[in-house]
Amino acid sequence: MTATQEYSTGRVATYTEEYSASRAWIYSSIIWLAIGTSFALIAATEMVSPDFLGGISYLEFGRIRPIHVNSVTYFWLSMANIGAFYYIVPKLTGRPIWSEQLAKVSMWLWNIVGILMVLTLAAGFSQAREYAEMIWPLDIFVMIVLLLNALNILMTVYKRREKKLYVSIWYIMGSVVWLPMVYAIGNVIWSPFVGNPSEPNQNLFSGSLAGINDATWNWFYGHNILGLWFTTGGVALVYYLVPVITKTPIYSHLMSMIGFWSISLFYSMVGQHHILSTPTPGYLKLIATMGSIGMFIPVLTFLTNIWMTMRGNWGRIYASLPLKFVLVGTVFYFITCVQGPFQAVQSFNRLIHFTNWIVGHAHLALLGTMTTWAMGAIYYIIPVTLKRRIYSPGLAEIQFWMVVSGFLLIMISLQVVGLIQGAEWLRGEPVYKTVQDLKPYFAVRAIGGSMVVVSAYIQAYNIYKTVRSGPRIQTQMEQSLAEVGG
Ligand code: HEM
Repeated sequence: MTATQEYSTGRVATYTEEYSASRAWIYSSIIWLAIGTSFALIAATEMVSPDFLGGISYLEFGRIRPIHVNSVTYFWLSMANIGAFYYIVPKLTGRPIWSEQLAKVSMWLWNIVGILMVLTLAAGFSQAREYAEMIWPLDIFVMIVLLLNALNILMTVYKRREKKLYVSIWYIMGSVVWLPMVYAIGNVIWSPFVGNPSEPNQNLFSGSLAGINDATWNWFYGHNILGLWFTTGGVALVYYLVPVITKTPIYSHLMSMIGFWSISLFYSMVGQHHILSTPTPGYLKLIATMGSIGMFIPVLTFLTNIWMTMRGNWGRIYASLPLKFVLVGTVFYFITCVQGPFQAVQSFNRLIHFTNWIVGHAHLALLGTMTTWAMGAIYYIIPVTLKRRIYSPGLAEIQFWMVVSGFLLIMISLQVVGLIQGAEWLRGEPVYKTVQDLKPYFAVRAIGGSMVVVSAYIQAYNIYKTVRSGPRIQTQMEQSLAEVGG
């Protein structure tokens, strides 16, 4: 009897059971989504009513914001993607993951880092770099886990039985190799900074970057974790899920490869587009604008490839929940990637820079696109590996509509706010005058946000109940149905 069969007959899973590490990463990610969005709701409410918590320092906006951002990026999305990698890589290489135990050890370490991240940021310890707020000692643990994950995945690929590398494997290998490099650069890891609130700007050792140079490093990192980690990881998931669920080979292998190599070329150029309106060198801005426009190549090749694979299969989204999540994510990805290059053009950038338009765009990418892709992967991997059907497809359906409509309310309200702010600032209105006008929009964002929070808790409940008491898959037909996301 194999370990998986033992599990499906109700016996406790062993520590080395195949895909148990994949599920462990996914379970953690689900909890982090609930935590991260709950913090977000506090932050969103503070933007409507700044004093509603009575000024408790641990819960002030400046501390809650980075806790939210780090929770949903590094501990929800990253953990969900890594969990999915630990499923997809063995499937595509014909080998179990190199070390299930190592994958679980790194999962525990990652969770410990997450808890310390919340505690230190709430206490006011921050590196004060966007997306890189975690302080230096935590950075070291982050680096260790990233390297352990990279080792585990690369060793699995190295020992593979299937000689040909499918495009998802390229994307996954790229992601796990790029992330540690990018993280080290963005966190200026060679210049430890513990961010003690009582001694701001004091480094453990001297030699930190400062001012505009620091911002350049920061945004090289800031956009590369989006482009060479979350995007490439998400694209890997979609390239796996769509052909498997529709039982249709990918439309064009060549296009998928053009997409992979062009994303690695263009994405690494774009970081500076976050600080176009700053006194940084003109050539860096030019490179960033060119790279941003070049991004049309990987985006359009990817989307054309996926949508052409869907030809004749569109009807399946009614029967397959994972497919529904994944495909709605591709539509949001298209909108993200139309907005992106336009935002990198100086004339439009002048209107939206520093406004809430950018926050709306960030949610379009990370919530509308990557979060729905990750949710699709979860609803595929959990039933197939546990051999249990989803406890409540009805609840999953409600989750789908809550996350999609909640996200749309967030994005639309924020981008309207952004345009109002941009127009008024260009007219020379002082910031304080515009603030009052924005309250109703921020209230809409908080309402949309609470729908996303509810969807995160629904997901947690539904997956918990699936693990505990989801109907068992017993017949070959039920198994085949699960394998097409049914
Ligand atoms: C998986 C879901 C989510 C992801 C991945 C996500 C991601 C992000 C990111 C990346 C930022 C930083 C944006 C920037 O560059 O300035 C951010 C900021 C923020 N998010 Fe979210 N978010 C999610 C859900 C939510 C929800 C549900 C709410 C509302 C309840 C929310 C409220 C906020 C707020 C208030 C900020 C700070 C904006 C500011 O500084 O003006 N987010 N989020």
